[in-house]
Amino acid sequence: MSSALLQLNRVEADIGGSRILRGVTLEVNAGEVVCLMGRNGVGKTTTLRVIMGLRALRTGELTFNGQPIAGLATAERAHAGIGYVPQGRDIFPHLTVEENLRVGLLLRKRTRTAARDDLERVYALFPVLKAMLARKGGVLSGGQQQQLAIGRALLTQPKLLILDEPTEGIQPSIIEEIGETLKRLRLNGGLAILLVEQYVDFCRGVGDRFYAMDRGAITISGPVSTLTDDVVREHLQV
Ligand SMILES: Nc1ncnc2c1ncn2[C@@H]1O[C@H](COP(=O)(O)OP(=O)(O)OP(=O)(O)O)[C@@H](O)[C@H]1O
Ligand SMILES: [Mg+2]
Repeated sequence: MSSALLQLNRVEADIGGSRILRGVTLEVNAGEVVCLMGRNGVGKTTTLRVIMGLRALRTGELTFNGQPIAGLATAERAHAGIGYVPQGRDIFPHLTVEENLRVGLLLRKRTRTAARDDLERVYALFPVLKAMLARKGGVLSGGQQQQLAIGRALLTQPKLLILDEPTEGIQPSIIEEIGETLKRLRLNGGLAILLVEQYVDFCRGVGDRFYAMDRGAITISGPVSTLTDDVVREHLQV
């Protein structure tokens, strides 16, 4: 029996008759930042979608907080405490920044005061959002949209935050800001984070442990201190 917050055990998944995940075993412990890495098309996003119930699991075990969750609907997994920021961010372009954030408040009941406090905490993490509350989400830069999506996910009060390539297409200064924010969330809030990421230095900076994936399976894993240039060359480079 594992005490991990999230555990995948030999998880397999098919898309359109092709086996895409071929026995993925990984875990995320409470308060840990774990990076799932790998080249394009190896199955990283599919892994996250299986965790969220957006893609069926064929065989294998999936537990969160010690409970099997493979039979739960996506909304129930969110309720259980998994926050998900998909690749490409998925904010509502025609809603304002504030409206986008308020969507994150809908998952759980709270008093108006608690909601205001929770929003203020997000503004403290991402001051740029507070300055843009009335703007439409669609006019924000990629980095601002990423911060908005992370802020919205945090308002669902997750125990585990899942991020799919948060640095993709984002300018370096904002990547650095997002990295600092993730480190702060882990330190202050004890939040566990599962991060799909191809940007190796970002993983080295924010991660505790990493998994490298190739053709639907984990090929190597360990503390990020063991994510050497040789490992990157062998497992992660095209
Ligand atoms: N909706 C789909 N229909 C058909 N094939 C798909 C679909 N989604 C993913 N695949 C295939 O499944 C494999 C894994 O895709 P996935 O999106 O999980 O990869 P990834 O590691 O996240 O890649 P990237 O780094 O490009 O985001 C790829 O070969 C992809 O072509
Ligand atoms: Mg992907």
